[in-house]
Amino acid sequence: MKSFRIATCALAFVSAGVLFAADPPPWAYGFEGPPQPGATAPPPGPANTDQTPRTIPGATAQYSRAQIANRFGPADWFPGEHPQMPDVVAHGKQPNVWACGLCHYPNGKGRSENAGVSGLSTEYFIHTMNDFKNGNRKSADPRKNNTNLMIQFAKNMTDDEIKAAAEYFGAMKWTPWIKVVETKMAPKAKPNNGLFLIEGKEMEPLGNRILEAPVNAEATEILRDPHSGFTAYVPLGSVKKGEALVTKGGGKTIACANCHGADLKGLGPVPGLAGRSPSYLMRQMFDMQQGFRKGAWTELMKPVVANLTADDMMNIVAYTASRMP
Ligand code: HEC
Ligand code: HEC
Repeated sequence: MKSFRIATCALAFVSAGVLFAADPPPWAYGFEGPPQPGATAPPPGPANTDQTPRTIPGATAQYSRAQIANRFGPADWFPGEHPQMPDVVAHGKQPNVWACGLCHYPNGKGRSENAGVSGLSTEYFIHTMNDFKNGNRKSADPRKNNTNLMIQFAKNMTDDEIKAAAEYFGAMKWTPWIKVVETKMAPKAKPNNGLFLIEGKEMEPLGNRILEAPVNAEATEILRDPHSGFTAYVPLGSVKKGEALVTKGGGKTIACANCHGADLKGLGPVPGLAGRSPSYLMRQMFDMQQGFRKGAWTELMKPVVANLTADDMMNIVAYTASRMP
């Protein structure tokens, strides 16, 4: 059924030259299945109120879950590891801008359901914040409420606040955060607010998808430990298939190095891809292909994604995630 739909979409695209709304791949958007017609995003739930002090390895301070999840001043476990945060990164701005550090972490590593924001060029960062602001960046999955929040934050920020955040995160390098494992079997995981969490020891066939999940569910979801990264389980052979498309284009796309740099670490203003979240990059490619992400800079990406199938894009992001940043 699914492959039939994708096949007909590709055919319609080629013959009529129009975009067909394919289903957003649930593994990349953090849901169990495709959105039903009329699906909407739930509003954010109440903030956590648990006051029990917690700690994480290597940190000196203690924080309760209420503090860790504080939308206007979340935990900063390792204050010595990053430059001084601008106020908007540390505290956001009442009532409509949450602290950037809450979701992206003070070190900008971010998580699969949001984005890694460190190591981006200031020009790109500012440009994309304005795309969120101007309605050029939306999610293909109407259930993705954190993208809606991101839009709300951008709309309520001043140019100076955007610039301060861009300079802060841009001053930190992107470093390894996601380990890629090619496998037939993967741990069973459940989506939780757009993030897949591994709950036990049970394994299941991975199938035709990527499972990107925290190495340690508690460290990520409960404690928001900015040292505890992710594993991406990718299908056998996907990295190699992705490599062929990324480096040669395979007659379907344009070699990425032309614009993203020979090592895919970014080139001038163009963002880096190496070692970044495969779920996030998949969402962006799909959103750009389907017209949910658009704008002056996205024009350069349109011919890149136009003829790629969902499987091509999955193979591409398996490869880019496996590259050393
Ligand atoms: C509620 C969680 C949340 C908070 C808080 C948050 N963001 Fe985001 N941010 C997101 C999500 C989700 C995305 C990715 C959207 C998608 O995949 O559709 C994102 C993406 C981004 C991107 C795009 C990265 C790229 O590579 O293009 C930038 C830049 C960004 N955020 C900046 C900020 C700044 C600056 C702040 C603080 C004012 C902030 N974010 C606060 C959730 C958040
Ligand atoms: C002609 C230049 C060009 C080529 C070739 C190109 N890109 Fe891009 N790419 C861009 C630009 C410019 C942006 C920023 C787009 C925007 O801001 O909307 C971008 C953005 C992206 C993003 C979103 C990054 C983020 O942080 O949100 C992804 C993913 C991406 N490109 C993947 C690829 C892949 C994979 C290839 C090769 C198959 C590729 N690109 C080839 C110019 C290019």
